[in-house]
Amino acid sequence: MHSFSLLVLGAFGPFVTSAAECTREFLQTSADSLVEAQAAGDPSLLQPVSDALDYNENYSPATFESGILATPLEIDFSRHYLDTTQCATFTELVSATGSVPYVIGVQMYFADDTISKIDTLITTTGDWLFNATGTLYWASQEDWRTIPEDERDSREVIQAGADAYCDIFSDKSVEVPWGYPCARLEGGAYTGNGGPNDKCDVGIPSGVTLTDRRYVVDETIGAVSVFLSFNGIPDSHAFRVEKGKLRFVHTITVMSARSNSAGKMRRKTRGFMP
Ligand SMILES: *[C@@H]1O[C@H](CO)[C@@H](O)[C@H](O)[C@H]1NC(C)=O
Repeated sequence: MHSFSLLVLGAFGPFVTSAAECTREFLQTSADSLVEAQAAGDPSLLQPVSDALDYNENYSPATFESGILATPLEIDFSRHYLDTTQCATFTELVSATGSVPYVIGVQMYFADDTISKIDTLITTTGDWLFNATGTLYWASQEDWRTIPEDERDSREVIQAGADAYCDIFSDKSVEVPWGYPCARLEGGAYTGNGGPNDKCDVGIPSGVTLTDRRYVVDETIGAVSVFLSFNGIPDSHAFRVEKGKLRFVHTITVMSARSNSAGKMRRKTRGFMP
């Protein structure tokens, strides 16, 4: 009887209540520790990690020891999206000034006050339109400031903007809430020049399906990160939505992970790069 009541307390008691609280401060601290870990090349700085962490790089199971976090990178730019509803984060990392350039996207999912799942997408020289200098240049010019509370879009509106954009690749009849201006940053290439006439409704390929979408939404900056499969290629599409309209689109497309052996080869040789 005694152990039974303990069990009940464990299941419904104050521990569960505290685990259910996911604050911006908590997510910010953890996402900041990811940047510190990556800068130091020391995965142990990333906190708080679950014992049962599900860790993936370019959608393949990976380990901290052989993964990107074990390589110190010059972090020139980073931005977090903090999703307190789902208890998840997205972090965009740009390393342009180190010996090997990288643009990295990381989705982290939390359970019981610890990081339970990490998906990291890693791009470098040779990936689609890759140019970390370009990414750094354009990403740091864009205005992603906090949106005043009374002007914020709902999660549903923000996600709908992303979904419409992702849907139009396979269905040209979809109505996308284009903003004007709007700019796309893809690999390192920019569809605009940072001016008032920038447009996103230029040159979207046909016959491509964007499937298996996983979203991290931050209403405070109108942002949504979507990790997806771009015709089978690991891909990140991230958006800023303002007043229901698309303002910025950032993509990370992992061409080099298309075959497992290529991914393994890169992991193996990373430590030997100049
Ligand atoms: C990369 O982007 C920078 C900044 O926009 C630009 O000056 C440079 O020419 C680009 N490099 C390539 C190879 O496109």
